[in-house]
Parts: sequence; C-alpha cells; structure tokens
Amino acid sequence: MPQASSKATDVSIGVCYYPEHWPEAVWAEDARRMREAGISRVRIGEFAWSRLEPSPGEYDFGWLVRALDVLHGEGLEVILGTPTATPPKWLVDAMPGMLPVGRDGRPRGFASRRHYCFSHAGYRRECARIVRALAERVGAHPGIVAWQTDNEYGCHNTVLSWSDEAKLGFRHWLRDRYGAIAALNEAWGNVFWSMEYRDFDEIDLPAGAVTETNPAHRADFHRYSSDQVAAFNRVQTDVIRGLSPGRDILHNFMTFFLDFDHYETMKDLDIATWDSYPLGSLDVFPAPAEHKAAFARTGDPDLQAFHHDLYRGAGRGRFWVMEQQPGPVNWADYNLDALPGLVRLWGLEGFAHGAETMSYFRWRQAPFAQEQFHAGLNLPDGSPDRAYHEVKQLSADLAALGPLGAPAPAKAALVFSYEASWFLRIQPQGRNFSYIEQAFAMYRALRRLGLDVDIVGPEAALAGYALVLVPSMPHVPERLAAELERCGGTVLAGPRTGSRTASHRIPDNLAPGPLAGLLGLRVTRVESYRAYSAVPVRYENATFRFDRWREFVEPAVGTEVLAETEDGHPALTRRGRAHYLAGAPDEALLQRIVARLAGEAGLETLDLPAGLRTRTRGSRRFVFNYGPQPADISPHFTGTSFALGGARLEAGAVAVLRTEG
Ligand code: GAL
Repeated sequence: MPQASSKATDVSIGVCYYPEHWPEAVWAEDARRMREAGISRVRIGEFAWSRLEPSPGEYDFGWLVRALDVLHGEGLEVILGTPTATPPKWLVDAMPGMLPVGRDGRPRGFASRRHYCFSHAGYRRECARIVRALAERVGAHPGIVAWQTDNEYGCHNTVLSWSDEAKLGFRHWLRDRYGAIAALNEAWGNVFWSMEYRDFDEIDLPAGAVTETNPAHRADFHRYSSDQVAAFNRVQTDVIRGLSPGRDILHNFMTFFLDFDHYETMKDLDIATWDSYPLGSLDVFPAPAEHKAAFARTGDPDLQAFHHDLYRGAGRGRFWVMEQQPGPVNWADYNLDALPGLVRLWGLEGFAHGAETMSYFRWRQAPFAQEQFHAGLNLPDGSPDRAYHEVKQLSADLAALGPLGAPAPAKAALVFSYEASWFLRIQPQGRNFSYIEQAFAMYRALRRLGLDVDIVGPEAALAGYALVLVPSMPHVPERLAAELERCGGTVLAGPRTGSRTASHRIPDNLAPGPLAGLLGLRVTRVESYRAYSAVPVRYENATFRFDRWREFVEPAVGTEVLAETEDGHPALTRRGRAHYLAGAPDEALLQRIVARLAGEAGLETLDLPAGLRTRTRGSRRFVFNYGPQPADISPHFTGTSFALGGARLEAGAVAVLRTEG
C-alpha cells in the first residue's frame, strides 16, 4: 500500500477535486489549503472528457498536466479517474447506438451522465482509446498513485440496458453457457407455456411480454448484464496496467447497490472503494419512520459499517471511502444537514473498519449545474465550510492516535450474494420480501452485540469463523455448501436458502437443496403475507413474529426444533451446529436468536443500545454514538485508557479505548 506522507499515521485523508471547474489561478492555493487540513490524496478527472478531448481526436492534456504538477508540487498524491462515465456530445452524436435503452425500449439520451450501454462494443473501443491516450500522456506522472475506472458503475439504473447490442450479446453469452439450444430449453423449463426456442438467435431480452417472463430467462439476463460490467471495466484495467505500472486501480462502488456482482468486477481491481452518503442513504432506505427520525441527522448506526465490511471483503482486505458526505446532499427526497461532529465520526468509523483512505466529496461546492445544493468542504466562494474544520479535526485525531495497524479478522461472518438479490427480486413471491433488508437485519443483530463482522462472498473460505450467517440464498453454489459443511462454526441459514438451483428451478430434493443434509429438513410449503397476517412465534418463553414470510418444514430424525410458530410448526431448527430459520423474523426475535447462537459459538458479546456501536482495529477499540441521546459508555466498555474522548459521549461523538489485545 502506498503510504501517506505523514509519518504519524498509516492511513490518509483525501478529497475529490475538479480543477476544470475552477480558474487555474486558484489551484495552488486550493492545494496548499488541502495540505493545511491534513489532506494528502486528491481524486481528479473522472468527468472531464469534454475538456480532455474537446473534439474527436483533438486532445488537450495540457491543463491536466499542470493540475497534476500543482498537486504533486504540494506533496499531494493523485487518484486519476478515467472520464468514461460522461462521454461527450460529439461522441454520442457520432455513435447513437451506444446509448443505454430503458425497459420501455427508449434510448436514454445525452445531457446528464452515464449515457452508455455496457454491451456496446464501439463504446468500449472508445473507452480503450481515451484511457490509452490519457495513460500514455500522464501515466508515468510521479503524482499519480492510483487510477479510478469510470465512476459508480450502474448508478442511475444503468446496468440493465434493453438495447439491440445487449440482445445480440446476450444471445452469444447464452450460446457459450449452454452450447445447445436444447440444453437451454431444458434448463429454463421452456416446455412450460410453449416457450421453447429452436435457435439462440430467436431469444429476445426478457421484457415486453404480455405477463411475467420466465425467471430463468431473467436470471440469466442479470448474470449477462453483470458480466458486461466486469468486461467493460477490464477493458480499462488492461490498458492502465500496461501504461501506468505500479499504481493501484480501483473503482468507487455505491450504497446498497446490487445490480452487478461486485466480487467479479473486483477480480481486476486492487482496492474496493465506495461512496458514503449516510443521510441521503437513510432517507431513501426502507425503514420505519421512527427509526429514520431518530437518526435523521447522524445516519443509520449500521449502514456505513455494513458497507465498510462489505467492501473490505470485496477488496480482499483493501478498501477506501472515495466520497464521504460533507453536509447536505442534493439527490435524496429530503436532504438534511448533519449534526456537527458527524463528518468526523463517519471518517473515524471508516478507519476503524480498516479503510486506508477516507476521501471527501467535494473540495468546494459547485455554484453551477446539477449539484448546486451539494455541500463541500468549502463554500462556493472558497471560504471553509463546517466540514473543512471537521476534516482538520480528523487529521489531528489521526496524529494523536498514531498508526492504526491492520484490522483483526472478525469471528462472525455474514455471507453476501448478489445473485441471491437477483433471484429474490425476480420472484419475490411476497411484495415485501427484500434480500437486502434480510441481510442488513442480520448484520444489525450482530453489531448490536458489539461484534466485528466480515461480510464475505459465496466463494469465501469460512474456516476460522465461529459464527456464520447466511441471510437468504436461493441458489447455494456447491462450493459454498461444502464450505458450510466443513467450516466448523455455528451456522444460521435464513428462509429460502437452497430453494432454487442455478437455473432457477426447485431442487429435486426440495429446499434447502444442497443443504438438506447439513440442516436436516425439507421445506414443503411457503407463504407470504402483509404485516396484519404476521405469524406468532414462541421462543425462549416469549412471543415474537414472522412478519412477512414463513415456511412449513419437515425436520429429519435427529433435527431439534428450538422455536415453533403458534400454530405448531417448526420456526427454528438445529442439527448439530447448523440452524435453519423457517421465516422472516421480526427484529426482536432475530436479535434473541443471533445472541444465543453467538453465545453458543463462544463469542463475547455486548448488549448495545440502538445508537451505540463499536469496532476494533489493532489495539484500539472505537466507540461511536450515533445518538440520538448522549450516552455513558462505561457500563458497556472497559479498556485500559482513552486514546480519544471519554466515557460520556454526546450524540455524534467518538471515543477510542486502548485495549490490552
Ligand atoms: C455520487 C457521485 C458523485 C456525486 C455525488 C453526489 O454518487 O459519484 O459524482 O454526484 O454522488 O452526492
């Protein structure tokens, strides 16, 4: 990992900067003030295509080189973005077929951003060309420490494109996958409703039909579209690796974004980064109004942590936050200001979870175009906004803390799968069944126990984890089934796990398919319902609910029933160390179950109030008060001494304890 130039710490603070938005005369002063705030990294360039190539083949790299010189001259390390999220007007006019196409069959045109279809071969060639030109000209610049490919793949709903190029690409992809059309017909079950094809060239994209298209057809279109993101990204990484060696290549992913398999795209990248907008994300996330009200100015206490852990896993241990919210954003339905101190808290929390760099979006608020309401570290007139001072404070905190070291591996793992989210979206069976809500609820239950969590993909090794939670995974790949069998930890599998094959069929042995032996049961019926039909569940002498989904399971001989629905069906079963949850539990039931399993797995747990969270990195235990009330943390935490803060934490405050370990 490239080290931050400050010796006091092994992590760094960054900022997103747009030199092309500001007169050249202010660049040097901007750079100086960045250093003054403790910033050592700057991301630039990711939307600048119209300034890098104003007309076809007429490059202008002069301004970029001067900007790099200024930033490097100030000792700042640059992350250079490739500009492919914003193809210029002349290119779109020359190649209109590159536009993404909506489900309604209409092209999504020029005048904002991300107006391209991942499948379009001509656009990929244009991307290779501009990235090559850029890397040839500046790839060896000593100021550049990393590259960012494109910007937020899939943002604005752009992974699925219903274009002709996508249709042709999909046919190719299906031919590769199935070889013979008979194999595809068999796998998809096309005998149903006479959907059989005679040739791959007869297959259209799964839209525009009279009613629901075959779920297997849609599952494959998701897989195909996801593969196009990885392939599109690879076009750029191949060029950059050749022309700008020794630099990390990364991409900035998003919040709760499931449309493509990030683990696949990460295979060509060195570091996973993500864009953290706590308040905007809480505003658009489905959560009860009281919860949103309590955390409206601080953010959900688990949402940022969830993504830190998700992307640390996707990045094979290496992750950054590329864009951190500095104040109100512009894009949620409502855009609140954060409580003072939160910009610092979100920064420290990222570092606690292992972030190498915490970078803020953006240096100065833009007085023009779409994001005028989006705060920055500085106001449009250049004077410091509140976030500037909080970033300064963060850099003082880092200096006080000293090197943070590597985060220790967690003992609890949550297995996360993008494919699972597609399957559950394709046939939800109940409108309120949501993969991400199930996964996030399990994560929250672990975090309320004060546990550090690794979020791992379906291909991860599970040895060494004392507790493994699988929120819900319709198709359980063989490799994962084998890992769960041999991992040795306590396992909890949620509803619908193992209920479909890779081709979206019910397994021959019924759900949970490949986990039937491990879990010791089979599922014979499921039901979904609205909140008013919730099914009461008895567990540990109390009554809870399955609030949207339940299953009727037949336990095998030797499988214990640990909880039952009020009407006498198994709700939670155990066979050895493997548990199955036969429904979607309410928050309190899930908390009880996870607490009990964590205890049985030998993990030391806490019972944290709603807003208090903790994470350990090296020999420091971070404690965050997301509020909404001040908290006395002494009943929950003991440590040798405070490296930051104290036992009483105001809402939005942070304490860091030195631990023995
Ligand atoms: C991100 C994006 C940035 C900016 C920001 C505003 O999604 O990468 O370019 O638009 O949101 O919050």
